[in-house]
Amino acid sequence: MRINKYMAHAGVASRRKAEELIKQGLVTINGETVRELATIVKSGDKVEVEGQPIYNEEKVYYLLNKPRGVISSVSDDKGRRTVVDLLPQVKERIYPVGRLDWDTSGILLLTNDGDFSDEMVHPRNEIDKVYIARVKGIANKEVLRPLTRGLVIAGKKTKPAVYEIIKVDPVKNRSVVQLTIHEGRNHQVKKMFEAVGLLVDKLSRTQFGNLDLTGLRPGEARRLNKKEVSRLHTLAVTKKK
Ligand code: URA
Repeated sequence: MRINKYMAHAGVASRRKAEELIKQGLVTINGETVRELATIVKSGDKVEVEGQPIYNEEKVYYLLNKPRGVISSVSDDKGRRTVVDLLPQVKERIYPVGRLDWDTSGILLLTNDGDFSDEMVHPRNEIDKVYIARVKGIANKEVLRPLTRGLVIAGKKTKPAVYEIIKVDPVKNRSVVQLTIHEGRNHQVKKMFEAVGLLVDKLSRTQFGNLDLTGLRPGEARRLNKKEVSRLHTLAVTKKK
């Protein structure tokens, strides 16, 4: 197997990132620095990245109902609780597929499959991510229209989103809106609402592709079965109109 693919399979990095690590001279096979991107890893070879051995484990996929107050990473230098800490029984080195903010709850996938992870987060593949946002202010068609057309955030236009107004409370001056997007830029949903004058005070992701959180309480996780993984893959590769 080619070295970049081997690294992606091992969950170390995406193939593209693996190539960068190789170019930086950080990857060795049997103690020799890899110089060629086309290098093949043979069975029994010892591959190390920055001196750390990597292994090709079985690919595993988990669905977590992330509670608020947990960070979407593998470790934290400030010692805060991470999403990986919520799955202590998993022996494979899994990491989150994309991220949810510390104060966002809801559906989060974790895997050790770098290619799958890339496929799920790449906007080109148009995997729907559905969010429910409680916002300060009154949501209506006029206010929300820019979300459906795309608006500029940090110099880049967002792809058209789909919304549904769930509830408007004029007395408390707040609304609940469902928003479906397939991008995953930093704080994207919060920034999109902010751009139309609505401040998000509670955010939750309720759907990822065809998956939802049925049967999972906050903090609980379950393994995805082969059919679910392959369905997500099909969603990603199916050409959109
Ligand atoms: N958009 C956000 O603003 N936050 C999240 O956690 C996810 C999407």
